[in-house]
Amino acid sequence: MRRAVCPGSFDPVTNGHLDVIGRAASLFDAVTVAVLVNEAKQTVFTIDERIEMLTEAVAGWDNVEVASFEGLLVDFCVAHQAASIVKGVRVAADFDYEVSMAHMNGRLARVETVFLPARPEWAFVASSLVKEVVRFGGDVAGLVPSNVLTRLQQRLTADPTGAAPGSARAEQHR
Ligand code: PNS
Repeated sequence: MRRAVCPGSFDPVTNGHLDVIGRAASLFDAVTVAVLVNEAKQTVFTIDERIEMLTEAVAGWDNVEVASFEGLLVDFCVAHQAASIVKGVRVAADFDYEVSMAHMNGRLARVETVFLPARPEWAFVASSLVKEVVRFGGDVAGLVPSNVLTRLQQRLTADPTGAAPGSARAEQHR
């Protein structure tokens, strides 16, 4: 079985991410979406929330599963017997960074990285931009799945810090 891993922070998942995951699901037998647990990185959604939103969003693909990981991505790939990492590339700046990571991951383990060009309609969509737009009252309908849209509005209009519940930043602003 040829398994690919689609890694990321997914804070939160966007329609651009889902497009890449769906295309990976048609290229590989199985896809594991790997959500990074990084305590040092400020996130709007907790790891459980990010996994829950992703799990709902990928429910239509029966060869896609969602898991979390800590530490090196290649260790996760080896543990899950995945020989490939699939990444979406939106713009040139993405590519510069992604190529360095692909070479490093290739040096660390026998894992190939496959780049998929973001489709034009999603090429400007980033989780960070989506969060900023919602914080200032803008409309991101159509850029994220509906379950994510609802949660973004609840989280970012209810909590001006936009921090995940229980995080250090959220506590500071309580
Ligand atoms: O969605 P993001 O935040 O751009 O995803 C980045 C991610 C999670 C793919 C990257 O930070 C990663 O792989 N982190 C795991 C740690 C690791 O393996 N670092 C070495 C990369 S060469």
